Amino acid sequence: MAEPLRVALAGLGTVGAGVIRLVEANADLIARRAGRPIKITVISARDRSKKRPVDLTPYTWEDDMVILGERADVDVVVELVGGADGPALSCARATMEAGKALVTANKAMIAHHGLELAAKAEAAKVALKFEAAVAGGIPVIKGLREGAAANEIERVYGILNGTCNYILSTMEDTGRDFADVLAEAQAKGYAEADPAFDIEGIDAAHKLSILAAISFGSKIDFPGVETTGITRLRAADIAQAHALGYVIRLIGMAETQGDKLFQRVQPHLVPFGHPLAHVDGATNAVVAEGNFSGRLLFQGAGAGDGPTASAVVADLIDIARSTMGGGEIGVPFSVPVAELEAMAPADSGPRLGRAYIRFMVADRPGVLAEITAAMRDAGVSIESLIQKGRAGDAGAVMVAMVTHEGPESAVAEALRLLEGSASLTEPPLVMQLLGE
Ligand SMILES: NC(=O)c1ccc[n+]([C@@H]2O[C@H](COP(=O)([O-])OP(=O)(O)OC[C@H]3O[C@@H](n4cnc5c(N)ncnc54)[C@H](OP(=O)(O)O)[C@@H]3O)[C@@H](O)[C@H]2O)c1
Repeated sequence: MAEPLRVALAGLGTVGAGVIRLVEANADLIARRAGRPIKITVISARDRSKKRPVDLTPYTWEDDMVILGERADVDVVVELVGGADGPALSCARATMEAGKALVTANKAMIAHHGLELAAKAEAAKVALKFEAAVAGGIPVIKGLREGAAANEIERVYGILNGTCNYILSTMEDTGRDFADVLAEAQAKGYAEADPAFDIEGIDAAHKLSILAAISFGSKIDFPGVETTGITRLRAADIAQAHALGYVIRLIGMAETQGDKLFQRVQPHLVPFGHPLAHVDGATNAVVAEGNFSGRLLFQGAGAGDGPTASAVVADLIDIARSTMGGGEIGVPFSVPVAELEAMAPADSGPRLGRAYIRFMVADRPGVLAEITAAMRDAGVSIESLIQKGRAGDAGAVMVAMVTHEGPESAVAEALRLLEGSASLTEPPLVMQLLGE
């Protein structure tokens, strides 16, 4: 059999250990499929003396991950450290400058620096692969970039953060409030000690910006993603949505609007009949709408050592094959970086849709009339309106409404008219309804 593909692993945490386990467990099968063995030669992490769940004695330790690509016993560097900048970015840059391929699971780094790194990969004619960076074990980058390559993708959206989905589906199942479920998720290790990236929607926004670039052939625009997390959701919103025939999911949504790009992460009401309504727990799912393929649904484990390692090693198999003459290499996105379109962010105002708006209001006469007057004056037509009794907060009452279809700008105008109103005890919460 041909010479092995020699791999350096930077990062030996959850995913790094998973990669070692997978490469060892499926070595023969991987060698057959890759056309040659995949062999981990060198490893690197922060703390050499740390106890690990895998035996590291077969591998050479390297203190400095930045020089991994320069080593003569390394063909590919796998970066599994994380963080948009810092050692991960230095390692990625140095690897490609040394003329070696890079595989990464690091969505933050790709969202922020993917274009620069892709340009480096193209210049050096080496692979840059990041399947594991979006939706963990789901082969969605490959699916869109290769499987759906013949289509114009009009819209791509999905559930991109397993922690948020776990919290939302647990709130739904148990009727408990956000803070309570988050604390439990942290105690069980499902949510990070600092969960801000997940619950504020930033992790989903990283992944969405990568998916959009792959789907539309556009330049990654992470700052262009409008991002709202799940922190303001109450158990009462979930119950209200349920009564109306919806579940609440954090949805990342990207679509083209002419030559502009709309990207948003926001909790949505998803109708019971939509496939995404049945995506529970830590699962991820991505829907892409192609002009010939129709709706494609990718679903599976969005995180975890095994699923993420599966995506990382699939990238290594691609690299092993391509350097054996079996496939292309060196164009990380759907088209070369120089041909990716720079699309300006689209304004959400003209988008047509139905919205759920929830107000927490003072329990006194006239408040409802004030809200409905603002809706009327902004041209928002109300389909249903529910006023609940006290919602737990001192004196506050919940008023929730669903609008008829209309431009998002009308809802924004209604909320502007209500800004500063003494009747509202907190800013209103707006969620779009996902169409069937
Ligand atoms: N976990 C998942 O399910 C998942 C899913 C998809 C993508 N990802 C991505 O995969 C990457 C790795 O995630 P993970 O969950 O495996 O992380 P992790 O468990 O926290 O492991 C991170 C590893 O990086 C090393 N490291 C951190 N800072 C370092 C530094 N300054 N210098 C050298 N080494 C350093 C750590 O070394 P020590 O062990 O010595 O401390 C550790 O081995 C991230 O980009 C993450 O977003 C993770």
